[in-house]
Amino acid sequence: MTSPLLPTFARAELSFEKGEGPWLYGRDGERYLDFGAGIAVNALGHAHPHLVKALAEQAGKIWHSSNLFQIPEGERLAQRLVDNTFADFVFFANSGAEANEAAIKMARRYHYVNGNPERFHIVTFEGAFHGRTLGTIAAGGQAKYLEGFGPKVQGFDQVPAEDLEALKAVIGPQTAALMIEPIQGEGGVRNVSNAFLRELRALCDQHGLLLIFDEIQTGVGRTGKLFAYEWSGVTPDIMTVAKGIGGGFPLGACLATAEAGKGLTLGTHGTTFGGNPLAMAVGNAVLDVILEPGFLESVERKGLLLKQRLAELKDRHPSIIAEVRGQGLIMGLRTVVPNTEFVSAARAQKLIVIGAGDNVVRLLPPLIITEADLAEAINRLDAACAAIEAGQKTTAQPGAVQ
Ligand SMILES: Cc1ncc(COP(=O)(O)O)c(C=O)c1O
Repeated sequence: MTSPLLPTFARAELSFEKGEGPWLYGRDGERYLDFGAGIAVNALGHAHPHLVKALAEQAGKIWHSSNLFQIPEGERLAQRLVDNTFADFVFFANSGAEANEAAIKMARRYHYVNGNPERFHIVTFEGAFHGRTLGTIAAGGQAKYLEGFGPKVQGFDQVPAEDLEALKAVIGPQTAALMIEPIQGEGGVRNVSNAFLRELRALCDQHGLLLIFDEIQTGVGRTGKLFAYEWSGVTPDIMTVAKGIGGGFPLGACLATAEAGKGLTLGTHGTTFGGNPLAMAVGNAVLDVILEPGFLESVERKGLLLKQRLAELKDRHPSIIAEVRGQGLIMGLRTVVPNTEFVSAARAQKLIVIGAGDNVVRLLPPLIITEADLAEAINRLDAACAAIEAGQKTTAQPGAVQ
């Protein structure tokens, strides 16, 4: 059957009719354990009662009024984000890419209002992913996403991650900012060392640059802190957030210090839908749960447990898993076999996991996952590895008795 949807995604032959916590109910009649969480989006799992209530209550009041009027739910969410981070101001958008566009524009305007319009270059890091708009594909710098879309948006320089010398060499009189994911998500759950993040902060201070952290995948509790930057002791000037903050409702945000945000004055940036009352109600409800005492500690504890169990899994299946990466509940398995084969083998065990760059399989369970369900996921991963191994044996010994 041909689909009327543009074929930009390789969609699996599977759809879901409902979800509950970390479980998804497929239209194939099967129940799946969801370790993808809609690519790190469903932070509180599916149909979380507090989120459902918040959205339903807001839906019965007002959906949209535009940013021409006050939106008290948005003031409240922004204030809570400010109270819990380095930031003084928040701009709401609808997606990660839009939040990053706001960050990029903010960095450029900062230097513009400082009288340095030539400073519009942003340095990013190889393997980065910042979104799919023209600006953010230029920021991400990946040839496969840039191909065929005309001249790359000017003003993005890229260096290898953790390469301090290359970074120092590229910083020049045009440089405005450095932009980095504290853990590269799409790039393959690649950690950036705290030492390197500290070097970035020092370089920014030395050269008058803004430091932008893209926490679209790592933020909102995913690593066991509200934001991953907290592990490093380094604070950015600008930070982008999306995915988990909406728990499944489209919501992005660009947070900034008053100094970094000073160029985005009246009329310089905007959005119709960003900060819409429905999104704000859900964002507040997500924070209600994530900021409950003990919640983040539980994510950290479960993350350590998962990491330990995955290391044991790797030891049991060295011909399948080469490396375990990540922190908290953003974990990656670099596989020996093609990661697509592993994702399929896991799905055959009714476990949803997600591929990433560098031949990595991502595990992104909802943050509300229980230890029992973590153990269940390990059982299913074990079974997936065993199934691939059985296939390897068959290929290695053609004619062997099955
Ligand atoms: C680190 C990071 N930045 C930006 C984006 C883009 O977000 P969106 O797809 O909501 O535009 C993503 C999405 O995967 C991401 O992981």
